[in-house]
Amino acid sequence: MQIREFAERVLFAETLEEKLRAPDFARIRDDQPGEPRAWTTPGRPPELEISPKRTRRRLPHPDSLDDPQMRVRCLHTFANHELMALELMAWALLAFPDAPAVFRRGLLKILVDEQRHFQVYADRISELGSYFGEQPINDHFWRCAPSLDTPLKFVSAINLTFEQANLDFAPEYEAHFRRVGDHESAKIMEMIAADEVHHVGFGAAYLRKETPEDRAMFDVWCENLTFHNTPARARGEQMNVDLRLAAGLDDEFIGRMRGYSKT
Ligand SMILES: [Fe+2]
Ligand SMILES: [Fe+2]
Repeated sequence: MQIREFAERVLFAETLEEKLRAPDFARIRDDQPGEPRAWTTPGRPPELEISPKRTRRRLPHPDSLDDPQMRVRCLHTFANHELMALELMAWALLAFPDAPAVFRRGLLKILVDEQRHFQVYADRISELGSYFGEQPINDHFWRCAPSLDTPLKFVSAINLTFEQANLDFAPEYEAHFRRVGDHESAKIMEMIAADEVHHVGFGAAYLRKETPEDRAMFDVWCENLTFHNTPARARGEQMNVDLRLAAGLDDEFIGRMRGYSKT
């Protein structure tokens, strides 16, 4: 199987199972990446269609997480982020056929991580008596896709904004879940944060490579932020410096992130 075919299967799968099926890493090839193709919406099985805006709900307040239903709502939101993330990795594999082989392999690896993350959340939601698709589903990440016309803009939005923010949100929600005694959900957040370090690291490495020697990574990142993305969207209230350093963001970048507050 070609990476392109796998990405098409993920994006246009008619069932969730198909969307979540991992490729055979040992046998997948990439010698026919095809022509660049960028879609604006994913194919979705009917039960996972994007909900109209008016039906959507906000993330529950952390103080309400004693209530298992509120924890389900929270986990559902996070699972939806994983679903969009895995689709957008497939989207990038189709949009950037000429990107370096190592970049494309990296996207593929992240895609498979996101498939696993989605499954872990969906299983936990089931354990709590619900199912993925019971709550409204939004298309938050997808809305910026049409503006991501280069690999650098892609990693700036996905890896270095949404995933960078998760370096703060995942540990924050791990603590909230532990506080209310939901150690299973807390463990999931811990695992996600550890993987997210690698995903942000992938974006950071690409940004470093694209940054001229006489310029700051932070400035090049800001110039490549599109749509509604801003540095303020790339962090939570408490900024987790250790995870950012582990992801390879430099002191200057982290220092300048401090100048923005969460929106
Ligand atoms: Fe993830
Ligand atoms: Fe991720």
